[in-house]
Amino acid sequence: MTKPNLSSEFQSLFNTVETPRVFFAPGRINLIGEHTDYNGGHVFPASISFGTYALAQKRDDQKLRFYSLNFPSIGTIECDLADLDYNEAHDWANFPKGMINYMRESGLKITTGMDILFYGDIPNGAGLSSSASIEMVTGVLLEGLFDLKIERVQMIQLGQKVENDYIGVNSGIMDQFAIGKGKKGHAILLNCQTLAYSYAPIELNNHVIMIINTNKQRTLAGSKYNERRAQCEQALENLQTVLQINSLGDLTKEQFEQHKHLITNETSQKRAKHAVYENQRTLEAFQQLQRGNLEAFGRLMNESHTSLQQNYDVTGIELDTIVHTAWDQPGVVGARMTGAGFGGCAIAIVEKDKVNNFKKNINKVYSGKIGYEASFYTATIGDGARELTEGVN
Ligand code: GLA
Repeated sequence: MTKPNLSSEFQSLFNTVETPRVFFAPGRINLIGEHTDYNGGHVFPASISFGTYALAQKRDDQKLRFYSLNFPSIGTIECDLADLDYNEAHDWANFPKGMINYMRESGLKITTGMDILFYGDIPNGAGLSSSASIEMVTGVLLEGLFDLKIERVQMIQLGQKVENDYIGVNSGIMDQFAIGKGKKGHAILLNCQTLAYSYAPIELNNHVIMIINTNKQRTLAGSKYNERRAQCEQALENLQTVLQINSLGDLTKEQFEQHKHLITNETSQKRAKHAVYENQRTLEAFQQLQRGNLEAFGRLMNESHTSLQQNYDVTGIELDTIVHTAWDQPGVVGARMTGAGFGGCAIAIVEKDKVNNFKKNINKVYSGKIGYEASFYTATIGDGARELTEGVN
């Protein structure tokens, strides 16, 4: 869908002549550090130029009206500021509702109703964090409309609370953090235990980051995700009978190897191995990138995928077909799944003049094996959630 004229859509939908304010929050990719955030480890994500636009205006009464140009058949969803409980019938609007609810609960003065129009250009169900993007765009629009004083990290934590407590997915903090703190041309190394972070410029010279969408409909992703998390928690409990650690992220590979026998369940042992090794890989990958060693960075991406496939079991035939085929292509430095897995997207670092060949070869293998094609996008790393004052229509 080409981007509609959002302001005029807003005016005709909500029957107003006033010009609404416009806010934007990106989606994200994760370069490396997968399923480490809720294990107290490090992640290395970046915000991308795809994202969610929200146009908003305050109302004189207490009514909230939400409309998404991505879900026109659902129509306008209405509720009252005094009734922000989760409501299944409100479908996608539970994400902004949850955010309004928790921002109010945290004492911020959101005093009137609003009309809000959403439009997202993040590919649907692609695992590029469209839900965190909706949460964070709602956060910045509330901050802007009501002139709220809120630390960005607190807003990020409230976004995670929406996922965990309101929607019921036990996700970590990576997505909201990447989206809330994103910086053009940079990825963010985040310690998910302390929330200490630093930006690393992503200068790839004659390479680009390709995003490859499996186009697989993600089913049961939430429950499998929660299961992985529970397995890691069980492994941690076993290790804590002897070790004084707060999370799997506290362990070196050597410490893990010395103590892994404490983990009673074999599957949980594999999950924990991934969490520990992936955390160490992420730190190493960050250092290699700082040194300009793209080859080494790419190798670590590949190792990350293999561990997500063999130890964490979250890849599946679609992602494996794409990533394994990508590894064989000329000009590919590294490739791996990105995000939660179970479908969704892979990323690959590819030499610019090999991109066309890359797409053609991947789709030949992929459609032959899976029965439909993958989609390709070039990742542009843009800024995090903010109000837009220019280039808005
Ligand atoms: C999803 C979650 C994140 C993170 C990734 C896996 O995107 O929302 O918190 O756990 O999966 O790395």
